[in-house]
Amino acid sequence: MRSLSLIAAIALVGSTVSAAPREAHKTTNKSSDVKYTFNMGYSEGQYILPVNVGTPGQGPINVVFDTGSELTWFPGPDACDDCVSEYNPSASSTAIKDGKKPVFADYGDQCATVTKYKDTLSFHGADDLKFQSFPVGAASEIEGFEPGSTVGYLGFGNSDALYSIDSALQNDANGSKGKKKRQANNGSGDIGSNKRPPRQGHGRRWDTEESAVMTIGIDHSAYRGDLYYFNLPASEADCENHSIFWRTSLTGVGLADKHSCKLLPKSYAKFSTGTRAIKAPPVHADFLHLKFGAIYNFSENRYEFKCSKLDSIADLQFKFQNYQINLPAKLWTARVDATDDSEDAKCYTHIRRGSDRFKEWTLGTIVLDEFYQAWEQSMLRVGLGYLVGGSDNGATITNIQ
Ligand SMILES: *[C@@H]1O[C@H](CO)[C@@H](O)[C@H](O)[C@H]1NC(C)=O
Ligand SMILES: *[C@@H]1O[C@H](CO)[C@@H](O)[C@H](O)[C@H]1NC(C)=O
Ligand SMILES: *[C@@H]1O[C@H](CO)[C@@H](O)[C@H](O)[C@H]1NC(C)=O
Ligand SMILES: *[C@@H]1O[C@H](CO)[C@@H](O)[C@H](O)[C@H]1NC(C)=O
Ligand SMILES: *[C@@H]1O[C@H](CO)[C@@H](O)[C@H](O)[C@H]1NC(C)=O
Repeated sequence: MRSLSLIAAIALVGSTVSAAPREAHKTTNKSSDVKYTFNMGYSEGQYILPVNVGTPGQGPINVVFDTGSELTWFPGPDACDDCVSEYNPSASSTAIKDGKKPVFADYGDQCATVTKYKDTLSFHGADDLKFQSFPVGAASEIEGFEPGSTVGYLGFGNSDALYSIDSALQNDANGSKGKKKRQANNGSGDIGSNKRPPRQGHGRRWDTEESAVMTIGIDHSAYRGDLYYFNLPASEADCENHSIFWRTSLTGVGLADKHSCKLLPKSYAKFSTGTRAIKAPPVHADFLHLKFGAIYNFSENRYEFKCSKLDSIADLQFKFQNYQINLPAKLWTARVDATDDSEDAKCYTHIRRGSDRFKEWTLGTIVLDEFYQAWEQSMLRVGLGYLVGGSDNGATITNIQ
């Protein structure tokens, strides 16, 4: 039985934090490099971050913190009837229009038409830390967002956005000689308040313990052992001309060592906090599910199988340059009806058909939630480690060098 309560813990690391490669030497005394701490909301596998945008600051506006996309946007004036907050660029003295044409943001089930700006942005709770000329946008049309869900994204895969954050951190370090530590956002109740009330009888439990913590700087007390580092691609050419943030080279995927997908050269994985799912090129998703007789259900957009097969399904295994991640089947599958224990009970998997047809795999929060996450812009890498007090679902990282 999978425990639903979890604390996802992630760190953003700019160039102000000395990030000595931790695999090189064992650290017995783990100090903390944390400069700011934020409590994020957690809803349906997404991290919800409240931000303020513009001058004077508009917000807090809750957005999905998404390492897997590049566009930051908020509902603009009149974009939707029941949005909680909106961004009105004409009321901000620091808003500068960026580009002539609106852009189209597509998240699969959801989409938005966005007019781009550069404006000042801050994380709610640390509003003196201002990210200048941050790429933002005001959506004029949105589609597919359920009432009550978070409308808007912070696209943390954007290099201009990362540069803006890093510059602010450098200024901050200069101002305080890099020594001062501050705690922000002291458990104020307005974060994640968009979480919907428990739903009954849908086979899905909403657990109020679910939350996510973000720190700026690594909290070395939040993970056990060392961090396992995944280097970003050397250039965009190594990931089909996408942003190198936050991707890494992928060398193998299979069910244990038995059934391996035939990956194309230069295949890669994207680490994405914007989705719960694992997404695979459809041909690979089909191949893996065929091995245990899971059938694609077009109306639900997922693969389904009889739960009685669950015990016989091998670990899903991802191989990278240095490391291998193993995920037991109970982690990436779920019962259609959690109360149905019968012989014929139906299960489904969290592996979805992705939009990239050949080389891109997406590892969403079903994977990332299992680990402490360090998003290290300065070192061009993602670090994953075992969480202290994390849910023990059996996910492992091992060295395969
Ligand atoms: C950690 O180690 C360093 C160097 O060995 C030492 O100076 C420091 O006092 C230690 N910190 C703690 C909290 O033990
Ligand atoms: C921070 O201070 C250093 C040394 O004084 C200087 O070289 C650097 O440009 C400063 N950075 C910013 C962002 O002001
Ligand atoms: C956080 O809240 C607690 C309890 O209200 C209070 O005692 C503490 O001083 C606060 N800390 C900060 C940094 O505001
Ligand atoms: C990436 O961009 C280069 C240069 O513009 C182009 O030659 C190449 O075909 C592109 N590759 C892909 C996979 O789109
Ligand atoms: C697909 O899902 C729908 C809705 O849950 C269900 O009614 C239908 O029987 C499923 N199709 C197959 C082929 O299992």
